[in-house]
Amino acid sequence: MSDLFTELTAPNGHKYTQPRGLFINNEFVKAQSGQTIASINPSDESEITSVHAAGPEDVNAAVSAARKAFEDPSWRDIDTNARADLLYKFAELIEKHRETLATIETWDNGKPYSVSYNDDLAEVISTIKYYAGYANKIHGQVIDTSPAKLAYTVRQPLGVCGQIIPWNFPLAMAAWKLGPALCTGNTIVMKAAEQTPLSILYLATLVKEAGFPPGVVNILNGEGRVAGAALAKHEGVDKIAFTGSTATGKEIMKMAAVNMKNITLETGGKSPLLVFEDADLDQAVKWAHVGIMYNQGQVCTATSRILVHESVYDKFVSEFKKYVSQVSVVGDPFSDSTFQGPQVTKAQYERVLSYIEAGKADGAELVHGGQPHKDVNGKGFFIAPTIFTNVKDDMRIYREEVFGPFVVISSFKTEEEAIERANDTTYGLGAALFTENITRGHRVARRIEAGMVWINSSNDSDVRIPFGGVKQSGIGRELGEAGLEAYTNVKAIHVNLGNRL
Ligand code: NAI
Ligand code: MG
Repeated sequence: MSDLFTELTAPNGHKYTQPRGLFINNEFVKAQSGQTIASINPSDESEITSVHAAGPEDVNAAVSAARKAFEDPSWRDIDTNARADLLYKFAELIEKHRETLATIETWDNGKPYSVSYNDDLAEVISTIKYYAGYANKIHGQVIDTSPAKLAYTVRQPLGVCGQIIPWNFPLAMAAWKLGPALCTGNTIVMKAAEQTPLSILYLATLVKEAGFPPGVVNILNGEGRVAGAALAKHEGVDKIAFTGSTATGKEIMKMAAVNMKNITLETGGKSPLLVFEDADLDQAVKWAHVGIMYNQGQVCTATSRILVHESVYDKFVSEFKKYVSQVSVVGDPFSDSTFQGPQVTKAQYERVLSYIEAGKADGAELVHGGQPHKDVNGKGFFIAPTIFTNVKDDMRIYREEVFGPFVVISSFKTEEEAIERANDTTYGLGAALFTENITRGHRVARRIEAGMVWINSSNDSDVRIPFGGVKQSGIGRELGEAGLEAYTNVKAIHVNLGNRL
């Protein structure tokens, strides 16, 4: 493959130029590794195109570019108003190219076009704008001690940040990491997920057009265990920010130890959704549906474990089943009526099917779905939305993250039991609870071991509000003001004003 660009026409008729190279120093270049990655359309299993895949030598080149850019006065000493302008310009360009970006995202990932366009791209634009607004509001403090001393702090960028992103929200996860890192003056080597290599390369063209100096943002595709590992181990990288599986997060922690990198990890979950006897059941049903079935169930915060008070259990199950069969329309992601597209890859498809088998083998009751969905075109990685009931706490489907349109439902007797069982997991990302009792809502929210709790909703997320997990769901926070902490060091400066020793 010699071409660094290719003209493509997407299934919705949209024509555009797809870059295929590695984006280093504001240019697309060939991989020295000679490796490529095929990008697959999960709706029909066809190859869209292939892209260059970074090897360790390419990672070295990108890290060198980022280091040089970090030390270059054009970025290091930039007026923070100008830094804000660059980010605003970037956001405007993303808005201008929204249709192309949403098209690529749907083609490569399989999420419905309406979701790509209305949700993912809205998220990307608002995140970049939000952090553009912070670029000229990063400041330290003056700390009074005595007249003989002036002490103050400055907040400085960390340096070269390695950012490893997943395939479930490729552009949105890129924006969550680019926004705070750039507004605080860092430089970046981002590695996209090998399952969705395309949209990020198109975004790279807008980085250049916005006017960021060469080397400030470098974007690589490549295999996790090759390019991702090379980045995590690299002595020239100051920070690793990662979103993905808990297992890979642990590997990254080990590799990052080589030079004691600053780390932010956002990993897996098995988030509970509690329905108390005093809940508004219509609301609980709607949110429980979107909480697990949105984005083909490929959401780290998906409320995949539903616990319902025994007095409303049967009613909830029957209403939920009805709602899922009405609303979870599986189909071509470019069709307006589609709620659920295919799983992102054959591997993810097979993983979900294997959990369906595990649920059956362990004796849980399958009440909806439980098989591939073959009605789209006979091909593709489509799975019928799946519900298991009468699930026991020791079953694999109750304990492990499935990452698909797959939910387990169980019942509880008391509030205390509900809290204990909600917390009986190695994860701690999100948790939802439904009650009309305001006191209970806040009381239970405090006791749940999770980074985020939703009272009477599920998976509510906002760029202004911190996002992240406890326990084995991660370290650190993204988004909001809290997200800035992941990208600055506080330096203390002591000035002797008197004649102290
Ligand atoms: P993964 O965690 O292996 O991949 C995520 C990112 O990490 C990708 O960019 C990948 O290339 C990179 N990576 C993989 N191995 C690496 C290594 N040794 N060193 C450095 N980087 C590495 O996740 P995968 O295999 O794609 O999916 C498996 C499961 O992970 C899913 O079924 C789901 O349960 C979970 N997952 C969770 C996500 C979340 O949003 N928290 C996103 C993606 C997956
Ligand atoms: Mg793909």
